[in-house]
Amino acid sequence: MDSVANKEIKRIGVLTSGGDAPGMNAAIRAVVRACTYYGIQVYGIRRGYRGLLDGDMFEMNARSVSDIIYRGGTILQTARCHSFREHEGIVKGKKMTEIFQLDALVVIGGDGSFKGALELAREGVPVIGIPGTIDNDIGCSDYTIGFDTAMNTVRDAIDKIKDTASSHERCSFVEVMGRNAGYIALNCSIAGGAEVCLVPEKPYSLEVDVVRRIIACRNRGKHHYVVIVAEGVGGTLELAQQVKDITGIETTATILGHIQRGGSPTVKDRVMAGKMGVKAVLALKNGEINKIVAAQGEKCVTIDIEEALQMKKELDEDMLLANDILNV
Ligand code: F6P
Repeated sequence: MDSVANKEIKRIGVLTSGGDAPGMNAAIRAVVRACTYYGIQVYGIRRGYRGLLDGDMFEMNARSVSDIIYRGGTILQTARCHSFREHEGIVKGKKMTEIFQLDALVVIGGDGSFKGALELAREGVPVIGIPGTIDNDIGCSDYTIGFDTAMNTVRDAIDKIKDTASSHERCSFVEVMGRNAGYIALNCSIAGGAEVCLVPEKPYSLEVDVVRRIIACRNRGKHHYVVIVAEGVGGTLELAQQVKDITGIETTATILGHIQRGGSPTVKDRVMAGKMGVKAVLALKNGEINKIVAAQGEKCVTIDIEEALQMKKELDEDMLLANDILNV
């Protein structure tokens, strides 16, 4: 698979794919404005790979992205496109890039979206990925667009739940998103001062890690107990019932759900989207193709897409320890 374009990139397509994330609009804006700056034509593709297959695209310019930086969601809309998981879909996608004479595609999305991009790259369509998902679960990148906004939404919810939980001396179970990853859960547990945090990366015992911990908190005079459950752990309603049955403490269960995906992006998400969007276009302008833009600390780098998809990200042991120490 090539990593250098064999011709000058003059026209690109940009799409958002998979679950939307706050800051995707800021990333679209950055891509479009950087293209305008470097004299590259840019087409916005609606509804992710679904729109690519349908040829549902339109030319964009600097004005097409006015007043979107503060808006959640994605103006291009998004979809989870099942036919793009089949080889036939990939071939049709390639055909559409030829029909619309797109020299490259910028894909803003998560892991699943990048797998589709890799298949396109294998068929000879130059691609570049920008990590956009609230889950922060892209192995090659320290950060994914949307993560900070989602965490702030969760943190706000925990603060509010705590107010009522302490008034009633209840134990509140809060299920947060993250698919198979516990980044949102762990960070929000620390930020929200939760008593217990259950993540899919770490097996737990109901008796030791949940019940004993809650009883210990009660014995120390606490009036509220917040248990964060990552969605990858699941079973939140049953867990809440089990803890009530064993401890006699009244429990509530709140599944935060899609509220975590919405809202105006935070400064961090807008800035990261700006940096990543410009980096993606700059890479294409310099003939770099089939890469993922990745955050390494404060810097943005590009990593070969095949390599990037092999990379794994572990939960930070120091954070797990800090969570254990701080929240009892
Ligand atoms: O990947 C983002 C995410 O919000 C996950 O945290 C969650 O598991 C999933 O998407 C939900 O997807 P959908 O909106 O398609 O139900």
